[in-house]
Amino acid sequence: MQKISKAAIVGGGVIGGGWVARFLLNGIDVTLYDPAPNALEKVTKLIANAEWAYDELLGINRPIIGTLTLVKDLASAVRDADFIQESAPEDMALKQRILKDIDSHAPAKSLICSSTSGLRPTELQNDLTHPERFMVGHPFNPVYLLPLVEICGGSQTTIENKKRAADMYQSLGMKPLILRKEIDAFIADRLLEAYWREALWLVKDGIATVEEIDDAIRYGAGLRWAMMGTFQVYRIAGGEAGMQHFLSQFGPSLKWPWTKLMDVPELDEDFVRQIADQSDAQAGDLSIRDLERIRDRGLVGILKVLQDLEWGAGQVLGDYEAAMASGQKVDSYDLQKPLPLLRTKIKTDWIDYNGHMTEHRYLQLFGETTDVLLSHIGMDAAYLVSGRSVYTLETHIHHLEEVSQGEVVSVTTQLLGLDNKRVRLLHVMTLERNGAALATAEQMLMHVDTKAGHACDFGDELATALSRIWAGHQDLEVPGFVGKGIRALKQA
Ligand SMILES: NC(=O)c1ccc[n+]([C@@H]2O[C@H](COP(=O)([O-])OP(=O)(O)OC[C@H]3O[C@@H](n4cnc5c(N)ncnc54)[C@H](O)[C@@H]3O)[C@@H](O)[C@H]2O)c1
Repeated sequence: MQKISKAAIVGGGVIGGGWVARFLLNGIDVTLYDPAPNALEKVTKLIANAEWAYDELLGINRPIIGTLTLVKDLASAVRDADFIQESAPEDMALKQRILKDIDSHAPAKSLICSSTSGLRPTELQNDLTHPERFMVGHPFNPVYLLPLVEICGGSQTTIENKKRAADMYQSLGMKPLILRKEIDAFIADRLLEAYWREALWLVKDGIATVEEIDDAIRYGAGLRWAMMGTFQVYRIAGGEAGMQHFLSQFGPSLKWPWTKLMDVPELDEDFVRQIADQSDAQAGDLSIRDLERIRDRGLVGILKVLQDLEWGAGQVLGDYEAAMASGQKVDSYDLQKPLPLLRTKIKTDWIDYNGHMTEHRYLQLFGETTDVLLSHIGMDAAYLVSGRSVYTLETHIHHLEEVSQGEVVSVTTQLLGLDNKRVRLLHVMTLERNGAALATAEQMLMHVDTKAGHACDFGDELATALSRIWAGHQDLEVPGFVGKGIRALKQA
């Protein structure tokens, strides 16, 4: 899979800010160009929302957040970026001007994508020197959480570049959908616009308020849509006889004049005010930030349920997490030192009544570090399915210093011993800001045949990787506290 090493975002509003957050949270450095005086403030708020969502979604071992640099001119933003996402206002002439500017300053091999909701890429790429590397990459709000990105090339975009972009988006945890043909507004906005026109008519004709129309979706079809698209939903609605029966039953009603799809209600001052007033009443006391948080909490929950089901957007999330976990192999570390396996921020709900991280979270972090080590030495899903795994026989945690919410900690791991079936580990947790040791954990792990229910030799892949680490670690200094149990109290 192609990875992005540096990204540039041009335009940092609702969508550009969402892209900034997605790239940063994937550990990618980002340069942002946006002439608005409050651009950084807006983006910073979006990143905070996104960080919360990623903490909830991805557990603790997500990539180290990239660095954001706001620059004063477009050329400096794109000069050394290998991926550029234009997210300026939806205006053909403005976008054409900006894209020409990007094209003339960006490295020839970098990809340029536009977030446009509906402008045709052929028209956007006309004046570019390298039109073959330009396409639309149409995302959905919030960009940092929703996986879909529609890729629509223009007449001069190469298939190879569309595939490169798809690969890059996939490495960010997204679901790229490459359009077979160029059309206005692509696939999703064609569908959404049809719905939106109809909804406006229902208000215009006094059939329902904006709140009632939203209720008609969110209490019904909207719940289904996170799981299945309309075709699959209707297939089920057709019962055992499936889609054929559904179409013969409900097909004729499509010819009834139910919709007003081709007309648009006049968006005159009165109608716009009516919609805006009803929308204000619907929101009540909730600010946009409140609504964003409610939306994000719900999306995180839905995505996690779908991940458990290995279904749809949840499958994309599962694949993304698996790719992250297996991304690094033992050989990429300096094996003459303890391995830096985990880095994380201490979360609010890990804190106890003393205001410090509570004790079982230490075990969680050390356990997660062990899992990272196991995945890096080759204990993947296939290994587990083959009936082999690694169990923990013993853990001894030694607490040295307290740690507070928001601090960044890292954990390194040293092998203390290895035989055919067992490996002995020393994890050391330190505070990033001053390197102080916070806690240590010694663990003895044993390789097991899970079907037979007894210990057995490590499989070849695990044995080879562990031996390689052990070759580097066997001569490392072993701290004096290693091997000591809990002190006995002197009897009076
Ligand atoms: N809002 C959505 O739900 C949504 C969804 C998908 C795609 N899009 C598309 O994303 C793009 C951006 O939409 P948005 O909703 O983020 O708009 P927005 O108004 O929130 O943000 C646009 C940003 O561009 C900046 N800008 C203005 N002129 C600029 C210039 N010359 N160079 C660089 N930046 C400039 C503005 O300061 C602003 O921060 C549009 O093409 C839109 O169609 C929007």
